Amino acid sequence: MLSRIDTQKFNTLIEVNALINSNYTDIHELLMLILESATRLCEGDASSLLLINKESGELFFESALGVKGAEVKHFTVKLGEGIAGWVAQHNRSLLVNDVDHDDRHFRSMAQQIGYPAKTMIAVPLRIKDMCIGVIEIINKLGNQYFSKDDLEWVEIFANQAALAIVNAKSMEKARDEISFLHSQLDIEQGYHTLIAKSPIVLEKLEIIDRIAQTDSSVLILGESGVGKELFAEQLHLRSKRRNKPFIRINCAALPENLLESELFGHVKGAFTNAVSSRKGRFEAADGGTVFLDEIGDLGLLLQAKLLRVIQQKTFEKVGSNTKISVDVRILAATNKDIEAMVENGSFRSDLYYRLNVLPMYVPPLRQRTEDIPELATFFLKKSMLETKKRFDGFSSEAMDALLSYSWPGNVRELENCVQRACVLSKNRQIEVEDLAIIKTVTPSQEAGTRSLKTAVNVFKAHFIRKALEENNWNQVVTARALDIQRTYLSRLIKELAIAKE
Ligand SMILES: Nc1ncnc2c1ncn2[C@@H]1O[C@H](COP(=O)(O)OP(=O)(O)OP(=O)(O)O)[C@@H](O)[C@H]1O
Ligand SMILES: [Mg+2]
Repeated sequence: MLSRIDTQKFNTLIEVNALINSNYTDIHELLMLILESATRLCEGDASSLLLINKESGELFFESALGVKGAEVKHFTVKLGEGIAGWVAQHNRSLLVNDVDHDDRHFRSMAQQIGYPAKTMIAVPLRIKDMCIGVIEIINKLGNQYFSKDDLEWVEIFANQAALAIVNAKSMEKARDEISFLHSQLDIEQGYHTLIAKSPIVLEKLEIIDRIAQTDSSVLILGESGVGKELFAEQLHLRSKRRNKPFIRINCAALPENLLESELFGHVKGAFTNAVSSRKGRFEAADGGTVFLDEIGDLGLLLQAKLLRVIQQKTFEKVGSNTKISVDVRILAATNKDIEAMVENGSFRSDLYYRLNVLPMYVPPLRQRTEDIPELATFFLKKSMLETKKRFDGFSSEAMDALLSYSWPGNVRELENCVQRACVLSKNRQIEVEDLAIIKTVTPSQEAGTRSLKTAVNVFKAHFIRKALEENNWNQVVTARALDIQRTYLSRLIKELAIAKE
């Protein structure tokens, strides 16, 4: 039969076990509790839990109980030094009932803190047989000696403490991964994490902070894959509408008649398949923001309707004459040369001016290389979670390659590149050969032997063609990149006979 003391020990053990396996989040508190239980049950007067610092190889006091507990915490112990150091070095328990005559005893420390040890138990904390620290219980109460039974109990508690540490470490890792997942995708609304490191993007975000406070429409321009949608999200998230809906509509995804009913809704019988009345996306977004992506693909009829929503904040459902009022902020984006579309009549100039009250240009990735390492690391973490593979980052050659490539497909291309590398690579790090990117070619020196004027013109043509190619032959964006007027660019294109090959 178990004695009263044994029952107490078993009960404490069960309690500790339950705590380790619960969602107890404070590992320090838990270790303290284990140490306190072991000390009480073995009737010790003082005790410490020491852990090995991996870098220095020394033991530090994670917890210390007893009258001198606070003072002890200022000390560190080398491996092999004192009884605790001996236990850590040999990975074996010790029961010493005559500390005074034990050569291993660390006398100077005991003298410094003014607490003489007479009897002591010291046992290793082990994770998979490796010693990671020590628990020591000092001075059995009532001038008694520690028994072998006491030693065995401390060993059991040491085992529990080690388990608690392993558990806390895996909890921490799991928490990190979960919070990373949450940060990169707000599950409810599908917002993305916007990575921003370069001064040019940080400055854009400051501007966004300011214009988010207004209700003006914003036209977001920039090449394909630069992150226009993420900038639109930020405009919403940093505005007072942030808790209201953010509705995304891709104007290129639907034919005009379907898009119309999608945007404005329809009444029953409005067209053949309209068996019931339906709310449109503008109504659904009331109080929030509507993001019209690929606005350059919006047909002329819907352009007119949209203009009215912006000007009068009203519209009618398809098949109805009843005016509906809404409070929405409109954001739009395109990678097309919208000014050219206004010039050739495929985009209404009045709508363009209304949308373009606050234009926002998102620069291509090659003009903000500071963002590349941060983005690449972010995409690698994301891909590692998806593929359940592990990498220690990018080799320096791989990072150099990422930094020197021109990324015509911008952030989207970088994301795909990292994703592919993560799937295919068998290395510890992502290496340059995993990346499958071609080094950017420098312009050839074909101007060598001609007159200066010809040479300059050849160079100009070459330079402008390259800029146009990089910007998808979008003249507005190219002119901006070259820091010249669009009309001047258009003249140069004619004069230098630059044409798509
Ligand atoms: N700063 C950024 N931080 C993190 N991810 C980004 C960033 N910029 C872009 N991305 C990612 O790159 C991809 C392309 O972004 P997005 O769809 O916003 O591009 P876009 O400018 O709208 O391009 P397109 O004109 O082709 O529609 C997305 O997967 C997006 O999550
Ligand atoms: Mg887009």
